[in-house]
Amino acid sequence: MMRTSPPRTAFAAGADFPSRRRFIGQVCALGLAFGMAGRAGAQAAPALILRQIPSSGERVPVIGLGTARRYEDAASEADLAPLRATLKAFEAGGGRMIDTAPSYGMAESVVGALVADLGIRRSMFLATKVGANGKDAGRAQIERSFIQLRTDRIDLISVHNLRDTATQLATLRELKQAGRIRYLGMTTSFDGQYDAFEATMKRETLDFVQVDYALDNRGAGERLLPLARDRGMAVMVNLPFGRGRLFSAVQGRPLPEWAGDFDCHSWAQFFLKYIVSNDAVTVAIPGMAKPEYVIDNLGAATGRLPDAAMRRRMEAYIDAL
Ligand SMILES: NC(=O)c1ccc[n+]([C@@H]2O[C@H](COP(=O)([O-])OP(=O)(O)OC[C@H]3O[C@@H](n4cnc5c(N)ncnc54)[C@H](OP(=O)(O)O)[C@@H]3O)[C@@H](O)[C@H]2O)c1
Repeated sequence: MMRTSPPRTAFAAGADFPSRRRFIGQVCALGLAFGMAGRAGAQAAPALILRQIPSSGERVPVIGLGTARRYEDAASEADLAPLRATLKAFEAGGGRMIDTAPSYGMAESVVGALVADLGIRRSMFLATKVGANGKDAGRAQIERSFIQLRTDRIDLISVHNLRDTATQLATLRELKQAGRIRYLGMTTSFDGQYDAFEATMKRETLDFVQVDYALDNRGAGERLLPLARDRGMAVMVNLPFGRGRLFSAVQGRPLPEWAGDFDCHSWAQFFLKYIVSNDAVTVAIPGMAKPEYVIDNLGAATGRLPDAAMRRRMEAYIDAL
């Protein structure tokens, strides 16, 4: 197996140890609550695997958090409480990257409010998008994102689904130059856009691309991921579970015994470890609105990852269902 042993994790710094202790406590509490006591045990939370953003050398954990759908309509305290607990567990577990977008209903303002409430802005990497036609509309949308996210510096803004790409990239370059954003990029989740996406990747200098890639949706692995590696672009993977599709495909099935060979303890980890074992991938951003998902999914950023032979075995397994 490929063994990835990062020299340092997002929570290895001394200042983050209190968070780490809280997280270990949560792991134990949740482990007991979910019948995983034997797995979580009383040991320290393991180090998270980190990957470099090629344009800067900054390292981020390979599992981030997506906010489409479950963060879109959170208006009441009853809706917000589980999301607050989710972000708290995410930060305590060493998670950093949160992906959102102006088109995800209230998600940007929910993230902004919860991150501010929890006082975790400094440890989070906030990624949002611009999806607008025309320079003025794009600018106005971006200015709203700063307000909704309650920050004066957004870590990453990407052009959403290639909408008016040239215009919006020009604006993003100005913002990066001015120090208001740290990185820029573009996203897609439609294979019908791959040709245009590829052509734009060849033409433009981008810090990040975001694409759909999953164990049962491997098209991006053919050209886009190798191209990102060649062009020095970080890769965020959206739809890592194909929304619920992969869980439905394996419903009622036990994990194969050989999943233990790469320290995989759940189906979520099986799907995520497949993605992040592609070394062109910087971070996968599963949608998570429950703390127990955070603990499960961050587990995919620990231990061994599948090697090439194991990846083929995983593909064959899913293709045969
Ligand atoms: N073009 C774009 O830019 C684009 C397009 C699509 C998505 N995105 C981004 O990518 C993110 C991920 O996509 P997504 O959220 O739509 O789909 P996804 O990550 O493929 O699936 C998310 C769903 O998987 C389930 N889940 C998560 N962790 C689990 C676990 N450990 N065990 C069991 N089930 C688990 C949850 O379902 P339940 O909530 O039903 O329990 C969750 O809603 C989005 O949130 C968004 O930030 C970007």
